[in-house]
Amino acid sequence: MCGIIGYVGTENASRKLIEGLKILEYRGYDSAGVALLSKSELSIIKATGRVEELEEMVVKKEVKSEYYCGIGHTRWATHGSVSEDNAHPHRMGRVTLVHNGIIENYLELRARLEKEGVVFKSETDTEVACALFDKYYEENIHPCVAIYKAVREIRGSYAFGIMFEGYEGRIFGLRHRSPLLVGSGSDGMYLASDITALLPFTKTYSLIEETEVVELRENEAIFYTHDGIYDPVWQEATMNYDQAKRGGYSHYMLKEINEQSDALRKTITPRISGGLPDFSHDGISRDIFQGIKQIHIVGCGSAYNVGCIGARLIEEYSRVSASAFVASEYRYSPPVNMQGTLIIAISQSGETADTLASVRYAKLCGCRVVSIINARESTLARESDKVIYTYAGPEIAVATTKGFSTQLAILYLLSVYLGIYTSKLDTEVAKLKIDELKRCEGVVSNRLKGAKSVESLAELLYKKENCFFIGRGLDYFMCLEGALKLKEISYIHAQAYQAGELKHGTISLVENETPVIALMGEERLFDKTLSNIKETKSRGAFTVALMPKNEKSPQECGDFVIELLGNSLIEYLFDELLCVQLLSYRVALLRRCDIDKPRNLAKSVTVE
Ligand code: BG6
Repeated sequence: MCGIIGYVGTENASRKLIEGLKILEYRGYDSAGVALLSKSELSIIKATGRVEELEEMVVKKEVKSEYYCGIGHTRWATHGSVSEDNAHPHRMGRVTLVHNGIIENYLELRARLEKEGVVFKSETDTEVACALFDKYYEENIHPCVAIYKAVREIRGSYAFGIMFEGYEGRIFGLRHRSPLLVGSGSDGMYLASDITALLPFTKTYSLIEETEVVELRENEAIFYTHDGIYDPVWQEATMNYDQAKRGGYSHYMLKEINEQSDALRKTITPRISGGLPDFSHDGISRDIFQGIKQIHIVGCGSAYNVGCIGARLIEEYSRVSASAFVASEYRYSPPVNMQGTLIIAISQSGETADTLASVRYAKLCGCRVVSIINARESTLARESDKVIYTYAGPEIAVATTKGFSTQLAILYLLSVYLGIYTSKLDTEVAKLKIDELKRCEGVVSNRLKGAKSVESLAELLYKKENCFFIGRGLDYFMCLEGALKLKEISYIHAQAYQAGELKHGTISLVENETPVIALMGEERLFDKTLSNIKETKSRGAFTVALMPKNEKSPQECGDFVIELLGNSLIEYLFDELLCVQLLSYRVALLRRCDIDKPRNLAKSVTVE
């Protein structure tokens, strides 16, 4: 949701903070700010809009001062409008801080502090937290004592980077349900919301546990817990900075779309042995399913969409009851019966608050949790019983692409694995299914080489304001993803609809030249979906069919036809996915949208 960076050391702090904020900007980009400390002063510089605007202000300011310590923040607005007053860092009395998360009881705290004479300048929950720390930071107590006293009164989620007057040159960090890491570099110590912001400076990092407070000094980090000081566990990041950079592509999204064939190979290969799915690589054996009566798949956004496909595949191959749920709904209206339930949580970032909350609820009900995650060392990874990592590498663009395709591959492998476990899938059939999955790598790379038809379609669609995606069975769930991609980055109002359901009401919205895109990978339902296309055509729609090659001529099926690559349903689904990703990318390009950072969105929503 928001990005935090901190630095104290021998180099120029402002350049470190700005570089780190540019990497963290995908977490939110409504406003940005830094608090910079030189030998003589503490300067707070804030700007609405992108980090570039802030950078110009900092460059002007730093002419006079050599900053060696500072904290920075890039914001996705939750409480309070996008304004300079609401931008972080916030300062109250002798405390300056940045925050990622939501203080759920901030109104009650604010009212109490106002009664004690505190005057607030912003509408944010963060400023209230700042005032609380300042209140407890009386003379000659250590900031850690003030911190522990204050957080006892805070409900909600937070990651804080804090500077205390009187402790110049030190940064304090703590977290609860929001991510925060410490980086140890040759030129100083770092604090960051995620590992990618540390990579330009160091690969050595340590997690901050929920009960700890860390104190950063120029050349050391002290980790405090309630009962003393302890040595952290330093780790080496496995990814490198180049991976996280754009690598010559005009957008991260295009880079990540093009990385999918490689990401699929890296994700699938370690989970196949003897031609069959095998999760021993992940420390998972078939006993993970011991006593399981049903499977609940939880996720948000695209993670929910791919979860829908996974649930259907699991039911088809294993006959085990499986359902997908939007995480933000699941945790407030969970199914009645949680007995014998295995939770599969899907999250690219592993930090999505709604997904985490669903997992925590399910664990309270005694459920086992297997999570499919891309980002290593994430909060969800630490709270799951087992983790299956997708090896997609860092995903920076807000709209997920390689995250989705690698999640789909894992879900497909799991459904076949479970089918063998329940003996509903014959081993030979299972091997055929795995062969089909392995061919998807080729389908993806061939589509990437042959995307001309998709680009032509984008030329026909980019001026539209509405669009329908229709499909049946698994195609419908891929329609959900297609519609979300188009909405997310091109701002065209796209809607996914079950093809058979359209005629029961929503077809009233179809008028002359309304684009209706039909995904038709489910060959068993081809004729049914074709009838639905014709129903829209007879009402003037501009019909598009993404379909396998068959005896019907393209003219019979749609105004614009794209022949799907491959020759099995899973291959068609992957090709449909690539087509909708490339289509939304091209349309957004033609509409001159901000593809990697679409308006109002953030890559990972770490608040509810
Ligand atoms: C949204 C992203 O904020 O969160 C989507 O824009 C993503 O792309 C969704 O699918 C879930 O995020 P995650 O990290 O839990 O997969």
